[in-house]
Amino acid sequence: MNPVNIIVKKRDGDRLTAQEIRYFIKGYVAGQIPDYQAAALAMAIYFQGMSAQETADLTLAMAASGDQIDLHAVLPAGTIVVDKHSSGGVGDKTTLVVGPIVAACGLMVGKMSGRGLSFSGGTIDKLESIAGWSPDLELDRFLHQMQAVGLVVAGQTADLAPADKKLYALRDVTGTVNSLPLIASSIMSKKLASGADAIVLDVKCGRGSFMETLDEARKLASLMVDIGTLGGRRIVALVTQMEQPLGYAAGNSLEVKEAIAALHGESAPDFRALVESVAVEMLLLGASAGESLDEERALAKIRSVIDSGAAFELFRAFVAAQGGDVAMVDNPDLLPTAPVVLPVPAPMDGYVGRIDARCIGLTVVDMGGGRRRKEDIIDHRVGVTLAAKVGDHVVKDRPLCFVHGADEVTALAAVRRVMQAFELQTTRPQPLSTVLARFSS
Ligand code: URA
Repeated sequence: MNPVNIIVKKRDGDRLTAQEIRYFIKGYVAGQIPDYQAAALAMAIYFQGMSAQETADLTLAMAASGDQIDLHAVLPAGTIVVDKHSSGGVGDKTTLVVGPIVAACGLMVGKMSGRGLSFSGGTIDKLESIAGWSPDLELDRFLHQMQAVGLVVAGQTADLAPADKKLYALRDVTGTVNSLPLIASSIMSKKLASGADAIVLDVKCGRGSFMETLDEARKLASLMVDIGTLGGRRIVALVTQMEQPLGYAAGNSLEVKEAIAALHGESAPDFRALVESVAVEMLLLGASAGESLDEERALAKIRSVIDSGAAFELFRAFVAAQGGDVAMVDNPDLLPTAPVVLPVPAPMDGYVGRIDARCIGLTVVDMGGGRRRKEDIIDHRVGVTLAAKVGDHVVKDRPLCFVHGADEVTALAAVRRVMQAFELQTTRPQPLSTVLARFSS
């Protein structure tokens, strides 16, 4: 077999066999197939797509490219480990809140998360705003922390789905992110390799996501549910709104602050609605046989662990267990802060009709909050905080949002750019709903 023939076959729109896919993935992970050939294949897949069978074969090859954890070999019998994954959005700090909530409700949450991808932020980059916090955990520590704390968020180690680790970083900088088969295989290979029993997928839909139309998002959700079911997992996918940034903050440190506020019970309405929807699904999927849990009871549990402070305490314990400075959790003002904060004034009185989430996400990346090349170092301080969301009334010259920049020049450029993201209108727009569709096995 020859990598060039495989690239050409896909470039010309033919179907790849499971054997060809396995050969390519194995060779790429072993370093025998270079980045430029993998980038060429990713681009061919981007334009030609893949059948459901090819996508499943690609997912399985990527999941098998490293270790596959069997959590049940070590955890007490009957333990159910739940996981959630987002397909990527702007301002999406949901894991930081949902993880501690669900763990505080008594389930084990073991998660392998990613870094930022194109305009969308990554959970690992966000958590690294907390001094000392590390995603690098050996399997022993992963398992120990899951039992001791109930929540683990690990980065992709060299041993788990290494094919995705390499491809993910490559796609980020080669314009090959928003491809349905590449996203489905990336997400599901990690989920299958990391061994959770129950998985809730948050498939984002809209300008701030990789699936702009409801039709595409539904296809991705249904494909991933099929792959998860094939892999023997309990799985639910929610298709959720990503037209405007989620909550108020986009940017690593700013999002950690917002997540901590949410754990204290203070959330933007859209963020609260999403957190509750995802957490309810996780609790229901993770409920053991014989436990009588319905949506209403699950929601009551979720609210009670926030009100009692148990979810916040769990987040604190989780940060400490992974080496993070809990003083920053107790006092979020200690988190990295940008030196320049500039308001973006409203050009007229009116209602916010639209906030282009992608424009906000790309602005954050260009300010240093994301990567343009694989080796770029993240500036955790920078970002955008919204002062108004879609549907809010705004007054001329009052701030629509604030830009948090590393210096005056980049902040001023970001102000001009972010201004274009807002569309104001004279009538109140229809509210945006949070959950647009639901798929289950
Ligand atoms: N999240 C992932 O893990 N992979 C993608 O390709 C997109 C979002």
